[in-house]
Amino acid sequence: MRKIIITGGRPLKGEIPVSGAKNSVVALIPAMILADEPITLDGVPDLSDVANLVEMLSLLGVKVNRQQESLTADPSGLVNRPIPPEMISQLRASYYFYGSLLGRFGYAKVGLPGGCDLGPRPIDLHLKAFEALGAQVTYEGDHMILSTGGRRLQGAHIFMDTVSVGATINTMIAASLAQGRTVIENSAREPEIIDVAILLNNMGARIRGAGTAVITIDGVERLGGTRHQVIPDRIEAGSYIALAAAVGEGICVTNVLYEHLESFIAKLEEMGVRMIVKEDAVFVEKQEALRAVDISTSPYPGFATDLQQPLTPLLLKAQGRGKIKDTIYEKRVNHVPELARMGAEISTLGGQIIYTGGKPLSGAEVRATDLRAGLALITAALMADGQTVITDIEHILRGYSNIIEKLQALGADITLVDE
Ligand code: EPZ
Repeated sequence: MRKIIITGGRPLKGEIPVSGAKNSVVALIPAMILADEPITLDGVPDLSDVANLVEMLSLLGVKVNRQQESLTADPSGLVNRPIPPEMISQLRASYYFYGSLLGRFGYAKVGLPGGCDLGPRPIDLHLKAFEALGAQVTYEGDHMILSTGGRRLQGAHIFMDTVSVGATINTMIAASLAQGRTVIENSAREPEIIDVAILLNNMGARIRGAGTAVITIDGVERLGGTRHQVIPDRIEAGSYIALAAAVGEGICVTNVLYEHLESFIAKLEEMGVRMIVKEDAVFVEKQEALRAVDISTSPYPGFATDLQQPLTPLLLKAQGRGKIKDTIYEKRVNHVPELARMGAEISTLGGQIIYTGGKPLSGAEVRATDLRAGLALITAALMADGQTVITDIEHILRGYSNIIEKLQALGADITLVDE
């Protein structure tokens, strides 16, 4: 089993680059198969999620060529085969193949999805949208079948009961080749949604309003090839800015789109974090006294649920008490007992996290229960005295490309061991 071993307390400085956005590229790759010509993505991060999606493309007979951070796929010879459950359950975002297979062929047979340990993660909003577009959903063993019965998807007016990133993107993907107009109301507004809309429009789709709460898609007959640069990963950026403030003595986080992090940076400023925001980088100085603050997550442009865990170690460094409420995933608290094992004064009470900052952390054996919890443990381990051993680290490697090398370049004493 692979583990990460960290000896904390070392001053870190230098530059850490942010890679392409995981939550964009896991939708861009399935969306590519809507086209009947080759498509190239630039700035693709080196993640196991990407490798799994490329495996699914190969299963579907799509030729894929990877050159460093570029990925070219030629979907012209695509064969619409069932995607088996064991492949689908490697990552929840494989559900974007439902939208693209349905959009292009009117038929998809896919295993049922899995995903992180963040509590139940339904896909009812996705299925409701597909049904509104004219698909029937049936089940055959551990596969789900989406079928239009040979007819073309029909545009529809869809109101999302809950703001959902995945359902918004999946509906946009399926509706791009539908007959007529689709309007999505109460759509999510995340930057990754805009990134997918830009790719689709450059393939020939007609999507307006991505990034707002109402998205209009006028279906077209076919989609062609293009080249697309993946946006930087705002969650990786926020994770490293928080890490830099917690243990850095002058760290520049590069390839950052400031406008994707406004609510996060506002919170850091409320804590008293000193940083210099540049055009595409954030320089974080060595911090002096920090103030504890309260966090309440909400859909974009609010404070991202994915950043409450990575920010927590920095909060534990601040003077005072605070509380963290994740309004999107109430159960996103599995990092709390792990941090407590390192000496943190943190616990959950009535669906929220309460903490008292200022307590020194000590190294311990801890477990990465999910992707962003794992990053929080890495930051805490870099802050702590002594050695920390982190297990279940596959979660971390799913979302943070080359994280060991990136942190070693800052001077961190961090190694990946295979025991
Ligand atoms: C995306 O997940 C991200 N993943 C998540 O990041 C992120 O935490 C989440 O959006 C919220 O911002 C990817 O983009 C691959 P949702 P997604 O649909 O799309 C409920 C990470 O760490 N819901 O916006 O699955 C759902 O239970 C990951 O990178 C339904 O009820 O999230 C949740 O409470 C973790 N029915 C809320 O909506 C549905 O059909 C928001 O979920 C779909 C969602």
